[in-house]
Amino acid sequence: MEGGRRMTVLGSGIMGHGIAQVMATAGHEVVLRDIRRDLVDAALTKIKWSLDKMAAKGRIPEGGPGEVMSRITPEVELGPAVKDAEMVIEAVPEVMDLKRKVYAELDAAAPKDAVFASNTSTLPITEMAASTSRPERFVGVHFFNPPQLMKLVEVIPGERTSGETVRLTREIVRSAGKQDVLCRKDVPGFIVNRLFIPMVHEACHARERAGAAREEVDSAVKFRMGFPMGIFELADFTGLDVVHKATEEMRKRDRGVVRPHPEVGRLFGEGRLGQKSGGGFYRYGGGNYERVDLSEGLAERFDPLPLIAGVMNNAAWLVTNGASDMPEIEKAARLGLGLRATLSETAAAAGKARVLSELERLAAAHGRFYEPDPGLAALL
Ligand SMILES: NC(=O)c1ccc[n+]([C@@H]2O[C@H](COP(=O)([O-])OP(=O)(O)OC[C@H]3O[C@@H](n4cnc5c(N)ncnc54)[C@H](O)[C@@H]3O)[C@@H](O)[C@H]2O)c1
Repeated sequence: MEGGRRMTVLGSGIMGHGIAQVMATAGHEVVLRDIRRDLVDAALTKIKWSLDKMAAKGRIPEGGPGEVMSRITPEVELGPAVKDAEMVIEAVPEVMDLKRKVYAELDAAAPKDAVFASNTSTLPITEMAASTSRPERFVGVHFFNPPQLMKLVEVIPGERTSGETVRLTREIVRSAGKQDVLCRKDVPGFIVNRLFIPMVHEACHARERAGAAREEVDSAVKFRMGFPMGIFELADFTGLDVVHKATEEMRKRDRGVVRPHPEVGRLFGEGRLGQKSGGGFYRYGGGNYERVDLSEGLAERFDPLPLIAGVMNNAAWLVTNGASDMPEIEKAARLGLGLRATLSETAAAAGKARVLSELERLAAAHGRFYEPDPGLAALL
């Protein structure tokens, strides 16, 4: 690990405080900025708690939590927060108008050569970059929640991002012990959400068509697709607000990315946001982390073919459109979704002809959304 760079994290919420922690742990000097002092203070308390927990497990470098904390400077004023920054990592709420406003202020306040890195999950990098005077020094850097534990970071250049900006960003990401994948084009959902978000909706459609129980679909996803948990469980764990918002933003960019199922929007509208609100697709008893009962027996009662076909079709779309290649997609799926089997292994077990004919059958019944990508056959 090579630390020692000066960076600023904007936003000390769920993602920002975690990113500040991993960067300070890696030896970088971090200014953590939020709009109110109490928010930054609460973030520092969370970071200290997390560092103490990691130290107890022997996972903090020499110097311990105290030394890591000494590398994090809390700040509320934007000017002082960014005046020495080599990189600014932005983790403010996922609202385009707010991001634009933040970048306008930041562009005026930050050193001219500072790189701006947005942790957006779904907003267009190129468009945000265009609202600054430095689109060549603007990049997407998509950490996963929680940043302290999740190894994957997607790095996404916008249309005008320079090679040097991408190189520096990857170096910094790796310095923090993370593994990066390059999403070569600024496409809706980047790599992981391009696979994950459509699959949540497809699971709703497929369950309805098959008249299956939710636990049957989830068991098949877990035991026959190599997921660490079911897809409904994963959506509940991620938060249905996050899933719903990502769906909307991805569809704003391209209507054909997701075939939305009304259940996701309905649950969101009812405030059933998943684990954190005590209920989403499933109901939870109030415990922090509660697993649904899934089994190999239940997995036999639902054929996950439509889900396998859908996820592979999206992988093919990413390859056909020059956003990624199969080894990088497999890496992203393994580290970002926790898959134990590769997508290719799962598709091969299902059978090439069956995957293709499933998509053709679905396209005939439900429209063009399901048409096989022209590059899919070559990937199977
Ligand atoms: N939560 C996730 O699972 C997740 C995962 C990956 C990426 N993201 C992305 O990370 C970004 C942040 O999401 P989050 O979940 O951490 O949100 P959050 O609401 O938990 O935190 C955002 C923080 O930004 C602060 N803020 C608002 N305006 C600001 C400004 N002008 N300057 C500095 N701080 C400001 C808010 O006060 C808040 O503390 C979003 O773009 C989101 O899409 C979220």
